[in-house]
Amino acid sequence: MKYEKEETIQTYPGWDDFYNIEVSDKLDFFSRNERLFDIIFAQQFDRTFLNFMCKLSNQIRLLAKTKMGANKLSGLLSHKRAMLYFVQPSTRTFISFLNACHILGMKASEIRGTTTSSEVKGESPEDTIRTFSTYVDLIVIRHPEEGFAEKAAWVLNQTEQPVSVINGGSGPDQHPTQALLDIYTLERSFEHIGGLDGKNIAMVGDLKRGRTVRSLSYLMRNYKDVTLYYIAPEVFRMKDDIKNFLKKHDIKFFETEDFPSVMPIVDAIYMTRIQKEYSETPSNVTDIYPDFHFRKEDLSNIQSHCIIMHPLPRRYEIDVEVDKDPRAVYWRQERNGMWIRTALIAYLFGVDKNIASEFN
Ligand code: CP
Repeated sequence: MKYEKEETIQTYPGWDDFYNIEVSDKLDFFSRNERLFDIIFAQQFDRTFLNFMCKLSNQIRLLAKTKMGANKLSGLLSHKRAMLYFVQPSTRTFISFLNACHILGMKASEIRGTTTSSEVKGESPEDTIRTFSTYVDLIVIRHPEEGFAEKAAWVLNQTEQPVSVINGGSGPDQHPTQALLDIYTLERSFEHIGGLDGKNIAMVGDLKRGRTVRSLSYLMRNYKDVTLYYIAPEVFRMKDDIKNFLKKHDIKFFETEDFPSVMPIVDAIYMTRIQKEYSETPSNVTDIYPDFHFRKEDLSNIQSHCIIMHPLPRRYEIDVEVDKDPRAVYWRQERNGMWIRTALIAYLFGVDKNIASEFN
């Protein structure tokens, strides 16, 4: 028998007021004992935390290279369980979180669409999350709705036994763990030239709906003298909330549609896809924007140390012929996601000390 999907809308008193509070004024709600408990916003990460995450990821990466190290890691959370609730499509965030769980020995369950859960019978998303929390110790959420991961954490934090929630991408709004892996990639790539401080970074493409560039922009507050170049077609320019944030924190940024003029002056180029899934134009309308693509011939127009990044998946933004150039780091960036997400889970469960002790 085929079910028609029903929808139940529950009213949670206080949620609308909480949701409308400035993010900077509600961060404490997602911490416990001066440690982050839920990972919802990029604004939760300060420089100390970012440096710590990069160092911990390096340690995990080194340990995982040997059988002895991998065994050590896989014993750390063998008594814990995670739920991966991914109801918006994902390849790398899902797989990297799943493998992060494997590395730490954590068991993971998954739901990858609302058509196979009791949501099809009308169970609300909030009750669905509450149900997960009765079985597992951590919930990672990828959801099409802006604010859903935050609401899930808000609901659970008022129960007797809350579990940590990680936002694995919330609509066009935020993707905080992508921002973490982007920082890790930038810091690793610039290790021999003074790190990320003082660098020029171009972000190219759909900046309006690209949650990765939004979250990464927030993190620039933690670095000294970074300059951002936002390169987008008029219709996809970065939204005012991010530009106001940059102004408030004295972070220099420029906006232009002239990609070739920026290529030679930046240290990193962060390409993004046009986020057609949020588009109101009919799906048969092609919006390719070739002026915002990086081609093989552009390699001669960038500095010898300039890295090319992309959160992936890509469409036509980067020629496959660029992949072989050592400055193309997007495949490494993708892999860095697994290390940083492992570090994040280790931190949330307080086993980061056990990892660090291997290097004393
Ligand atoms: N970068 C990223 O979030 O990729 P997925 O959508 O495949 O998870």
